Amino acid sequence: MDREEWLIKEEGYDGEKTADNGNRFFLGNGYMGVRGTLSEFTKEDLCAVNLAGIYDKVGDGWREPLNAPNFLYTELFAGAPLNVKTAPFEEHSLILDFYSGILRRKTVFLVDNKRISYTCERFPDMKDPHFFYECSEVESDREVELSVKTGIDLDVWDINGPHYVRFEENCKEGRLLEVTGFTAEDREFVRVSSSVSVFSPEETALSFENRDKKLLSTATVLLRPGEKLKICKVSHVFTSKDGKEGKDDRPSSSKEAYARAREEHIAWWEEAWDRSKVLIEGDKEAMRALNYSLYHLHSIAPRHRKSMSIPARGLSGQTYKGAVFWDTEMFILDFFLFTEPEVARTLIKYRLDTLPGAKKKAADYGYSGAFYAWESQEGGFDACSDYNVTDVFTKRPMRTYFKDKQVHISAAVVYGIRRYLEATGDMSILAEGAFETVTECALFYYSLLLKRAGGDRYEIRDVIGPDEYHERVNNNFYTNMMARMVFLEALELFDRVNLLPADKRASILEKYDIDALRNTFRQAAEELFIPSPGEDGVIRQFDGYFSLEDVSVETVRSRLLDPKEYWGGAYGVASDTRVIKQADVATALALFHDSYEKSVLNANYNFYEPRTEHGSSLSACMYALLACYCGRADEAYPFFLKSASADIKGGGKQWAGLVYIGGTHPASEGGAYMNVLRGFAGIEIKNGELTATPKLPGNIERLVFKIVFRGKRYKVTVEKGREEAILEPCG
Ligand code: BGC
Repeated sequence: MDREEWLIKEEGYDGEKTADNGNRFFLGNGYMGVRGTLSEFTKEDLCAVNLAGIYDKVGDGWREPLNAPNFLYTELFAGAPLNVKTAPFEEHSLILDFYSGILRRKTVFLVDNKRISYTCERFPDMKDPHFFYECSEVESDREVELSVKTGIDLDVWDINGPHYVRFEENCKEGRLLEVTGFTAEDREFVRVSSSVSVFSPEETALSFENRDKKLLSTATVLLRPGEKLKICKVSHVFTSKDGKEGKDDRPSSSKEAYARAREEHIAWWEEAWDRSKVLIEGDKEAMRALNYSLYHLHSIAPRHRKSMSIPARGLSGQTYKGAVFWDTEMFILDFFLFTEPEVARTLIKYRLDTLPGAKKKAADYGYSGAFYAWESQEGGFDACSDYNVTDVFTKRPMRTYFKDKQVHISAAVVYGIRRYLEATGDMSILAEGAFETVTECALFYYSLLLKRAGGDRYEIRDVIGPDEYHERVNNNFYTNMMARMVFLEALELFDRVNLLPADKRASILEKYDIDALRNTFRQAAEELFIPSPGEDGVIRQFDGYFSLEDVSVETVRSRLLDPKEYWGGAYGVASDTRVIKQADVATALALFHDSYEKSVLNANYNFYEPRTEHGSSLSACMYALLACYCGRADEAYPFFLKSASADIKGGGKQWAGLVYIGGTHPASEGGAYMNVLRGFAGIEIKNGELTATPKLPGNIERLVFKIVFRGKRYKVTVEKGREEAILEPCG
C-alpha cells in the first residue's frame, strides 16, 4: 500500500472541527490516549490525555476516567502569540502517519513581516507506554526574539470534574517539571513528569515559571535566518493504579534518547502492520478506512496489563464513562484473537477477574450466578446510571433500564470466552476463572427462566435486547438465542473439567455439583423458547413485535419535535413502532447463521434492515455480516464501508446539548474487521479447524491478510472468481 494512503491530512484551521479532529488525529498506546489537538490548545479545545482504567467520581456526577494534566501545552511568542486561533498564518496542516503512529503539525505564522515556521511531531511510546515524546522546530526568515514556554497545564478538561482537588508540584528547575494530582480523599493520584531540552544556536538557559495553573519551562532565544530552534519534550505518566514505580522512570529529552525511542516506535508499528494489515486490491478507499480503524484498535489495546478491557469510546475521552460494554466481546475481540491473541487474553481476563462484581450484581437483583455490568469500570463496577438519558423537553433525567434489563451482556462474556478457546486452543484460562464464569453466567440465565403454570417451555421476560428503543420486552430472539448458547457452552466445559489441574478440578467439584448442573442446563437449553420463523421466514424480535405500528424510519423521524429527542423510553417516537435502533434479530442470525436456512436469513435481512435506524455504530457491521451469509456480498459492502469509515470520516454525533458525547468507535472498527474476516473471507472455525468460503463483493479483486490460529500464522489470500481462500502457513 502506497505510504500516502497511510496519511490523514487536514489543511487550514477551522475551530468547528476541533472536537472531530481530536478523534481523527488520535494517538494512543493502550495506557494513554492523546486527543489530536494542538500544543497551544487548552481545555476549551477538548485537549485530553485520557488514562486507561483509572476512575473518579465527583459529587452526583457520573464516575468517569481521569485525564492527566496536559503535558503537551506550549506557548510561543514572537511579538504576538503564535497561536492558530489568533495569529495570521500562511500555512497550517496536521498529518497523522498511521503507519508509524506519529502526528505531525506544521504552521507557518506571519507576524511582523516575518515568516515563522513551527513544526512539531509527537508520538506515544508503544514499548514503554508511560512515555510520550514530542519534538518541535522553529525557524524564521528574519531575525526574531522568540519566547518559548512549554510545560504542563493543570487546568484539565473534564466532563464531570474537576477530579483533582490538589496538586503537589516538584519543579526544581526548568529542565524537569513534575506534578502529582490527587483526587478527593487521595483515592487516586496521577503524576506527570516532563523533561524539556532546548537546542538553540546559542546556549540557552531554561527557567521555571508557575502561572495560570501552568507549570512552564521558559527560554528566550534570538533566532536568525537559517538557524533552527529545537525543543524536545519527553513526558512520563504514573498513577496510583500502576503498582511500584520503576528506577528508570525519569524521562530524558536528550537528542539521543528521542532518536532511539522514535526508531523503536517506528519498528514496533512496522512489526504490528506486518501481522495485521489488510490489503484490499481494487478498493483503495476501503483499504485505507479499514487499516485506519485497525490503527485505532492497536492504539487502545491494553498491552501493559494482563487483565484489562477496552472502553466503548476507546481512550478518546471521558464519554461513555470510559466504560466497557458488550462491544468488546461481540465486536472488538476478533481482531485481537486473530492478530494478537495475548491482547485477546487480557480482554477476557478482565471479565474473569470482574466475576465477583457480576455475582454481586446478580445477587442484588435477586438472581443467581453472574450478571455482568452493562457499563463496566474497574472491578466490574456498573457505571450505568438509572437515568442514562436526559429528556430534551423537561430537562429531567429519564429512567432507562439498560443496566437492569440488558441481560444479554453476560452471554457476550461467555461468547468471548468461547471464541477465545476456539481460536487459540489455550485452555489455561479455564483454570483462571473461565470455568466459573461460564457456569455462573449459565446459573444467571437459569434463574431468569420462567414457565407459566401448565406451560411446557421456558421464557425470558422483561429484557432489553440490542435494540434499546424497545425496553422491557419478552422473549427477545437475540437474548434467548444467546442464553441457550450459554447453557450449551457450560455443558461443553463440563465435559472438559478433566483438563483442569487436579487442585483446581477438586475446588470446582467441591463448589458445583456438575452432574446435577449438567441435567439442569441441558433441560434449560432444550426447553428454552426460541421464536421460530413465521411462514414468510421472518422471526419476531420479541413477543408482540408484529402488533406494533409498521411505519418507516423516515416517518418516525418526522415525528420528532426536537432533533435531539430520545427515540426510545416511555414516550419515544420509536417505542410503539417496529422501527429499531440497531441490528437485533440480524445480529443473532449473523452469529448463528449455520442454524438457519438461507431463505430465513434473507427474509429477516429484507424485513429488518429497512426498519433499522442504525442509530448505533454497532449496527452496520452486523447487517454486513448477515448480508454476506445471505450470499449478498455486494449489499454487505456499503455497510462494511460505513463501519470501517466511522472514525476516518468523523462527523458523527458530537454533542448532546452542552455535553460532549463524541469520541472514537472501537466496536465499529472491530466490526469492519469482522466483516472482512468472517464475511468476505468467510473464515470460520468448525470442529477446531479453520474453513474459508469467501464471499467477495464485486469491487474487491483480492484480499490479503495474516491471521494467527492456535499458535500458527497463516497468510490468507482471497481472490475474485476463486471459490476457496488460500491459507498458507507463514512465519
Ligand atoms: C448501543 C449499545 C452499545 C453502546 C456503546 C449504545 O448506543 O445501543 O449497543 O453497547 O452504545 O457503544
